[in-house]
Amino acid sequence: MTTKHPVSVKVNGIRYEREVEARLTLADFLRHELALGGTHVGCEHGICGVCTVLIDGRSARSCLTLAVQIDGAEVTTVEGLRNRETGGLHPIQQAFVEAHGLQCGFCTPGFIMTTLELLRENPDPSEEEIKEALGGNLCRCTGYQSILESVKLAAAKLRETQGA
Ligand code: FES
Ligand code: FES
Repeated sequence: MTTKHPVSVKVNGIRYEREVEARLTLADFLRHELALGGTHVGCEHGICGVCTVLIDGRSARSCLTLAVQIDGAEVTTVEGLRNRETGGLHPIQQAFVEAHGLQCGFCTPGFIMTTLELLRENPDPSEEEIKEALGGNLCRCTGYQSILESVKLAAAKLRETQGA
């Protein structure tokens, strides 16, 4: 019989209690246990960044994190960015739409979560700082320039909403 371990975690503001196998990754926990398919899975080796989520406010590869490791933590996925009252897109999501920061969209949740962490720490990043922050996220479609423009637009939108 497989031993299961209790996990109590807050995801996008909602508390979940589950029993999981020790080897279950956070990515699979989110996708299969909680039906949060916005976190994608690509390489499963920590290389591509599509599985990026925030754990207690810090970006992390959910393919390299075990579900049991997040017991007691707070996780934010791309689903958590929408405005809870209006259902509207987060300014970062809106910026990616407006500046054509996606084509197939497979990499997009990872870029958006990485951008969220960047702009919380640095609301007005230089181009070099954006490149540095997004260096661990891979995209096969866009050529990156439109992603760069999306992050600049997202930064401007967030500064505007914060009255900066
Ligand atoms: S799927 Fe996690 S880094 Fe590629
Ligand atoms: S938009 Fe297709 S992989 Fe990035």
